[in-house]
Amino acid sequence: MTDIKELLLSRIRDVADYPEPGVMFKDITPLLADPAAFTALTDALAEIAEGAGATKIVGLEARGFILGAPVAVRAGLGFIPVRKAGKLPGATLGQAYDLEYGSAEIEVHAEDLTADDRVLVIDDVLATGGTAEASVQLIRRAGAEVAGLAVLMELGFLSGRARLEPALRGAPLEALLTV
Ligand code: PRP
Ligand code: MG
Repeated sequence: MTDIKELLLSRIRDVADYPEPGVMFKDITPLLADPAAFTALTDALAEIAEGAGATKIVGLEARGFILGAPVAVRAGLGFIPVRKAGKLPGATLGQAYDLEYGSAEIEVHAEDLTADDRVLVIDDVLATGGTAEASVQLIRRAGAEVAGLAVLMELGFLSGRARLEPALRGAPLEALLTV
């Protein structure tokens, strides 16, 4: 494992039985609190954005905002928030997706993405892939191109990558860590 991967992994805390019994929660707050680790993460994601030729960064509420916003600044790109439904004041496009129990919806301001944009989606964790898949669909419906998806951590045992690959249509899925 490279030094940066070791650094990032060492700052992610496993919390057993959160938010419910049987779930091992990956807590990134120690990483955010460590400026060396947060800077290394931001630099690594900004490098992916530059390599993908992204023109904009989409961050997925909420933890994707924390990671995506500094990447946008570092890479010199605009930041577009994809929010949980009901939070954006302007004209929105919405995309529903299934959760284990029930469903959820995410939204983006329709005017924030255009046919000239190549969008890199950033989030902290890829689990089942449902959130990321919905964001990819939303970006395409807004008329923009998907440059890829970059996450800090992929939970390999949930097979989100397999679910996402058809939706990505060849765009890269970069996970800095696979746990
Ligand atoms: C978590 C995580 C990812 C998503 C991954 O977000 O931050 O966004 O779940 O799950 P999936 O791959 O199964 O869709 P969540 O909405 O739980 O919380 P947050 O608002 O703190 O980001
Ligand atoms: Mg999230």
